[in-house]
Amino acid sequence: MQNYPDLDVDFVRNQFSALNGEWAFMENAGGTLTARQVVHRVQDYMSRIHVQPNHLYRPSQEAGQLIEKGHNAISQMIGADQDEVIISPNTTASVLFLANSLRRWFSAGDEIIVTNLDHEANNGVWRKLNEFGLIIKEWHFSKDSGALEIDSLESLLTSKTRMVCFTHCSNITGAINDIPALVSLIHHAGALACVDGVAYAPHRGVDVKSWDVDFYLCSLYKIYGPHLGVLYAKREHLERAANNNHSFLENKLSLKLNPGGPNHELTCGIAGVEDYFLDLYKHHFTSSENTILEKIIDLGGLISKHEEVISKPLVDFLSIKRNVTLFGPSSVDSKVRTPIFSFVVEGRNSAEIVKTLDQEGIGIGSGHFYAPRCLEALGHDSSEGGFIRVSLVHYNSKSDIMRLIAALEKII
Ligand SMILES: Cc1ncc(COP(=O)(O)O)c(C=O)c1O
Repeated sequence: MQNYPDLDVDFVRNQFSALNGEWAFMENAGGTLTARQVVHRVQDYMSRIHVQPNHLYRPSQEAGQLIEKGHNAISQMIGADQDEVIISPNTTASVLFLANSLRRWFSAGDEIIVTNLDHEANNGVWRKLNEFGLIIKEWHFSKDSGALEIDSLESLLTSKTRMVCFTHCSNITGAINDIPALVSLIHHAGALACVDGVAYAPHRGVDVKSWDVDFYLCSLYKIYGPHLGVLYAKREHLERAANNNHSFLENKLSLKLNPGGPNHELTCGIAGVEDYFLDLYKHHFTSSENTILEKIIDLGGLISKHEEVISKPLVDFLSIKRNVTLFGPSSVDSKVRTPIFSFVVEGRNSAEIVKTLDQEGIGIGSGHFYAPRCLEALGHDSSEGGFIRVSLVHYNSKSDIMRLIAALEKII
């Protein structure tokens, strides 16, 4: 790994007011805490200038500019043009809007590939297209690596494959899939790639153009921001896509998939996510020439290093417990995984363990995390409480992990 400085965790934690208390928050794949820069922008907008934007009076003009700034910020952060980025209520809604529009491109007998690893968001909606005569094929993940392997996709692709819908990183196993290689294979087969980046984006830079993805999804409330979804779509696809919005918005690329407009105050708040990353960058690096995307990619290096350090004691602890099964990659290598760890304890209900940890001020989750097919493929069901999931981000400290290990040691 490149020589990155150490992450100043105290500096990071000071950016999140919710970290002032006693809680160790480790259910971050479900939703991260909000950076104070985001809170500031939303509060400023709502308390000062919450008017209908883009009319000809000045406060309305300013409101429009603030919304535009938020939209522009996330577009630049993922390396996209602004009119290729759709702000939606959440990722589940983004996929629904996308599928509703794109289904007109497909005919009965066309094939769509989905996975048994994915969260239901980039999964269930596509499966339902079988109502229109589409054939749905399921791409199975490797139980050893917890990832989607290229070989197993190859055998599913045919001349009839139109789309492959899959995750960049599993919200259960934490395994990272090789997006450039998979997208290249999918394009070679004449199909489109729709990638769920929700569990990946909180950890590393997202560069949609260099990966050549057709569609890429993420959720800002898991990237330290407001509760919104982001859908990137290649311009050529958006131009062809059917309009879900008012007929006179047909040619507004970033609005046409949304039924209605995006949430104003939260879209304004997206600029706070950029502020947060810029503050973090300035604290750790000297160059100011880089683009915001380049800065986030550099921050991803520093964050990866920290994630590996804090994950190691947890993985070591879980791996030696004979009654624990940890799913996904067994290493903490940030090239193959993000720090999302799901496990079960033999003979124990996962929900009970999570409830006990609540008493210790430790917040983690249990269940199938909306990926029930993954739980089933790994030989479990919800009657045992599903997985126990510990999902870390860079504001977690070594002391959070040591508290968790000490608490788990008593319980399991
Ligand atoms: C991997 C993954 N994809 C998609 C989603 C759905 O995101 P949203 O809540 O924005 O619809 C989640 C939410 O947990 C997720 O973890």
